[in-house]
Amino acid sequence: MAIVPPISLSTTFKQYSPGDHTGFEYSRSGNPTRNCLEKAAAALDGAKYCLAYASGLAATLNIAHLLKAGDEIICTTDVYGGTNRYFRTVAAEMGLKISFVDCTKLECLEAAITPKTKLVWIETPTNPTLTVIDIQQCADIVHKRGDILLAVDNTFMSAYFQRPLDLGADICMCSATKYMNGHTDVIMGLVSVNREDLHERLRFLQNALGAVPSPFDCYLCNRGLKTLHLRMKQHFTNAMAVAQFLESDPRVEKVIFPGLKSHPQYELTRRQCTGCPGMITFYIKGNLEHAKIFLKSLKIFALAESLGGYESLAEHPAIMTHASVPAEDRELLGISDTLIRMSIGLEDVEDLIEDIHQALKAAHPEFEVRN
Ligand SMILES: Cc1ncc(COP(=O)(O)O)c(C=O)c1O
Repeated sequence: MAIVPPISLSTTFKQYSPGDHTGFEYSRSGNPTRNCLEKAAAALDGAKYCLAYASGLAATLNIAHLLKAGDEIICTTDVYGGTNRYFRTVAAEMGLKISFVDCTKLECLEAAITPKTKLVWIETPTNPTLTVIDIQQCADIVHKRGDILLAVDNTFMSAYFQRPLDLGADICMCSATKYMNGHTDVIMGLVSVNREDLHERLRFLQNALGAVPSPFDCYLCNRGLKTLHLRMKQHFTNAMAVAQFLESDPRVEKVIFPGLKSHPQYELTRRQCTGCPGMITFYIKGNLEHAKIFLKSLKIFALAESLGGYESLAEHPAIMTHASVPAEDRELLGISDTLIRMSIGLEDVEDLIEDIHQALKAAHPEFEVRN
């Protein structure tokens, strides 16, 4: 038996007699390499079942298809820009009613629920402002009000630091493009559930909608999972050091990192998660020009969208990842011109801090700061 699962490229599988087969008929409905990944990811999420999709957004789309026209979705205000865009401009056009509610305020969530609410969507920590939402409390509120599904986008924490299903969520989804794969070479989504009925419907939709990942991508993601624990621990260590450096720097207005005591939901993070990923956002002092000079001056960090890979990346949410969020909403969420998001990678942390220091110096030459 192979130690490394083989990549099963066949699109179709021979049957012994019509309907009598090994469990595989056609690769959209089931593929051995995808099966192998789904089993591994389910185990990591502490779930009975996991389903893999061609992207994180394809996973979101499949979850939305659990609903029908006229149903209502409550989505927390601060979510990945593409999730916001999908709900607002695609799902809403198909007859779903979407309301955006700040789910850190549990009384607002409770007040927003109507008899037509069928799905509550939260992302924690949120992207890009790293607000932490209490999953257990949301689950309690949502389930008290009837047959409503609580879905948690677990992309930032990954299965290693946070297990939403254990905290009462019905659906745990993630963009495996990020930490779960961790090598910046696969676009993929994963959805884990425990409920039999949800699994059955999602399995049907996975085949019926057809947004499945390729066997090669499943192989790559499965390989990435083998080092998830090591990568996440190092992301946490590196991010903590960078966050502490930024917090003590006079060229920085404010740092947001849930592992810092200054984070408003530090205690909740400690209760709900076993660590923090490499995501840090901070406000640089000054204006858009200072943010741009900082980002252009980085040498080790690449100026790029995405996150969760072994390599460090930095980006400007207002112009890049969150440009599709309406300007007035961005302002309310604090996604301003001086907000910078960093995905701290696995490089030597001294080198990362030195790089940030020299880029801050380029943006703010008037400050006399020693590294
Ligand atoms: C939190 C979060 N959820 C979902 C997605 C969408 O995932 P994908 O790009 O794999 O479609 C992203 C992508 O950046 C994300 O950051």
